[in-house]
Amino acid sequence: MSLFDVYPLYNITPEKAKGATVWDKKEIPYLDFYGGHGVISIGHSHPTYVNYLTEQVNKIGFYSNSIINPLQEKLGLVLPEFSGYPDYSLFLCNSGAEANENALKLASFHTQKSRVIAFKNSFHGRTSAAVAATDNTKIVAPINAQQKVTFLELNDIDSLKKELEKGDVSSVIIEAIQGVGGLEEGSTEFFRELEKLCKQNQVVLILDEIQCGYGRSGKFFAHQYHDIKADIISLAKGMGNGFPVGGILISPEFKASYGLLGTTFGGNHLACAAALAVLEVMKNEKILDNVNEQSQYFIEKFKTIPQIKRIKGKGLMLGLEFDFEIADLRKKLIYEKNIFTGNSNNKKLLRILPPLTIKNQEIDTLFESLKSCVQ
Ligand SMILES: Cc1ncc(COP(=O)(O)O)c(C=O)c1O
Repeated sequence: MSLFDVYPLYNITPEKAKGATVWDKKEIPYLDFYGGHGVISIGHSHPTYVNYLTEQVNKIGFYSNSIINPLQEKLGLVLPEFSGYPDYSLFLCNSGAEANENALKLASFHTQKSRVIAFKNSFHGRTSAAVAATDNTKIVAPINAQQKVTFLELNDIDSLKKELEKGDVSSVIIEAIQGVGGLEEGSTEFFRELEKLCKQNQVVLILDEIQCGYGRSGKFFAHQYHDIKADIISLAKGMGNGFPVGGILISPEFKASYGLLGTTFGGNHLACAAALAVLEVMKNEKILDNVNEQSQYFIEKFKTIPQIKRIKGKGLMLGLEFDFEIADLRKKLIYEKNIFTGNSNNKKLLRILPPLTIKNQEIDTLFESLKSCVQ
C-alpha cells in the first residue's frame, strides 16, 4: 500500500536525534533549527524524557478516561506553577487542532452562539471548526466552510468592535504570535482592547498558544507579553516534546458536565509522562532563561547580515525576512549545510524554531552557514 501523497518530502531519513542534532541513516548530522514544526522543546531524546516514557510504558501505557489517572491530576497540579492560571482547569487531548476544536466547541456550548472571529493569515489546524477558522481556503473543504467565521485584520480594533457588538459571536480565536502566517503579531494595545471588548460583549477569548506557547516566546505564554488573560488557552506542540499531547486551559467561568467533552486517547499515561518530563526539565534546566539569552544572542548576531531586512517574532520563535524568496536558501541550508529551518505563508521569511535548549555554538554554526549561502 502506498502512502497518501500529501507531503512534499525532503530526501532525508532521520534515524536518531539528541539535543539539537538529528542524524540520518548514513550517520550524517543535521542541526535542527526547526524542531519538527516547533515541537521539540527540551531537546531531542532528553534523558529525563526518555526515562519518564520508558518507565511509564513498562508500567502502563494506556487506559481509558473512565478510570482514575493520577498522572493527569499531577499535570493539573504542576502546570499552574508555569502557566500563571492557577484557578483554570485542564482538558487533555492529542493535538493542536483538537485543542482548538474543543476550545471553539466549549465556547459555543457556553455562549449558545456559533459565529467565530479569527484573523487574516491565521492557522489553527485542520479539523472541522479549527480549519474553518484558518485563513487558507486551499485546506477548507465544503463541509468545513459551513461554519460561520469572520476574518479580520490584526490590530483593526474598529472592525473588531463592530463585529462583536452584533451580538452573535461566540468566540474570538487568535495566535499570540502567528506561526504559519509568518510571525505577525497584534500590538499590546490591540490585545488589551480585544480582552476588554470580549468581556463587554460576553464573547469567549481563545488564545492559541500551540506554537508560541510553552516557553517558546521567552514567556510561558506569548500573550503574557501583553498582560492580558484569556478565557481558554490551547496547547500542544512543545507540551510533549514530540509525544502527541494537547490540551486546553479553561476559565472557572465554564461549567463542566459529564460527556460535554471527551476523547479516547487524550491524556493517556504516556502522554502525561511526556508532558510531566517536559515541565520538570523546563524547571530544572531553567529553559526560559536559555530562551531569552539565546534569543538575544541570535538577534544581535543576525542583524549584522545585511541581506536580512527584518527579524520578527520573540524568544526562539523567530522569522528572518529577506528581500527575496527563501525557498532556494532553505534547500541550500538543508542539502549543503545540513541545517533544518522552516518556511511560512510569507515566502520571503525563514522560520526559526530550534529546541529551546539550543546553545551559542549551534547558533554560530547557523550564522556562518547562512552568511555563506547569501553572500
Ligand atoms: C498556531 C497553531 N495552531 C494549531 C496548530 C495545529 O496543530 P496540530 O498540527 O497539532 O493539529 C498549529 C500547527 O502548526 C499551529 O501552529
